[in-house]
Amino acid sequence: MELTAEDQALLDGAKGPAAARAMADLVRLGEAYDAPDMVDIGYAHIHSGMALYQGDVELMTDLADAGAKVIVPSSANIANADLVNWQATGAPEALFRLQSRAADAHRAMGSASAFTCTPYWAGHWPTWNTHMVSIESTVTIFCNSVLGARSNRDGFFATYAALTGRYPRFGYHLEANRRGTHLVRIEAPLETISDWSCLGFHVGAEVGGGVPVFEPPPRRPSLDELDALGAALATSGGVSMFILPGLTPPFADVAAAFDGPPPPALSVGASDVAEVYARFTTGPGDAVDLVHVGCPHASMEEMRLYAGLLDGKRVHSDIELWVTTSRTVRRMAEEAGLVQSMERAGARVISDTCPMSCHFARTVSPDPALGVVPPPMRAIVLDSAKQAKYVRDMIRCDTLLTSAEGAIASAVAGRFVPREAGP
Ligand code: F3S
Repeated sequence: MELTAEDQALLDGAKGPAAARAMADLVRLGEAYDAPDMVDIGYAHIHSGMALYQGDVELMTDLADAGAKVIVPSSANIANADLVNWQATGAPEALFRLQSRAADAHRAMGSASAFTCTPYWAGHWPTWNTHMVSIESTVTIFCNSVLGARSNRDGFFATYAALTGRYPRFGYHLEANRRGTHLVRIEAPLETISDWSCLGFHVGAEVGGGVPVFEPPPRRPSLDELDALGAALATSGGVSMFILPGLTPPFADVAAAFDGPPPPALSVGASDVAEVYARFTTGPGDAVDLVHVGCPHASMEEMRLYAGLLDGKRVHSDIELWVTTSRTVRRMAEEAGLVQSMERAGARVISDTCPMSCHFARTVSPDPALGVVPPPMRAIVLDSAKQAKYVRDMIRCDTLLTSAEGAIASAVAGRFVPREAGP
């Protein structure tokens, strides 16, 4: 791989041992993928340092102790505890304290302590053709597909890229890989954000690691619908980019999205979407412990939606309603009076984490030494196919998948309200 004089200087330690170590690992990554050279990156969404996994926090604190500094705008991914109000999720204090050490490391390194899977709603909005890195698949697919930035699904290498400002040119950083592999025709009526989530889950399973191109639907989806679509595509498949002609830069139409003639279209009907709802709806609807909305972390518009649905209502006394978002959006929603209004209705507005990222993730492998012994959970009502998949895999309880409208109605009624029955 061809290195510039600046790359070589970093490698030789000109900017300190942490940057040298980071560059050495990036060179190894580039060589593994036959990258011809490195690109300058303009943004990095990096690892938070997950407190549920002790070694993870140490990785971040070791870097900070070695004097590491991020040299491009950087945001931290979701964490294992709500650092703004750790009691809100019932987290053990030891977990909060450990997570706080990772937050201290981020502050020392200069990254924004966003602690979210939707940093774009918190102001991190990379533009067309910006090379970037991301540890979170939801961020990768949103930035590639909606903003036209260029990102792979990165692991810890995202942190190394943030420390050097460089990343090997391979994958979705190469023009040749940013082309459609499958054509998808949407024949299902899509009325809610969760319908787009189910569409994404179905298509992701069909196309695997491909780049689906959607024939333009009758109406342009909202940013929240695009977010839900991308998150689910990246969950059931390895999708890192989708193309919606007329929206995804720079593809004006279906023909432009393919290198050659488009392949025959894969049709997605109402029954395909219904099947995803059915797959993640098990168990009796009257044995629910938790209702969750805000996966991916809610935007300001979604906060407004939830607050409106809760207006004048009261969460049932047998149920917890969690609304998860970033601390930045939470602060904006506080300014607008939305958080207070939802809390008055009995909801818990939680930032920095989510059900599958908090201590519940250790349901099958508790850590009593850290006080991480998650409560037994019968069923969780959700409005996101992504969250449902991870709850099934990690918390291993029943899930009941509905729309946001159905989820809020479930929290109020104290029993599951399917999407069709929502208000
Ligand atoms: Fe974010 Fe948790 Fe969903 S990390 S995308 S809210 S599963």
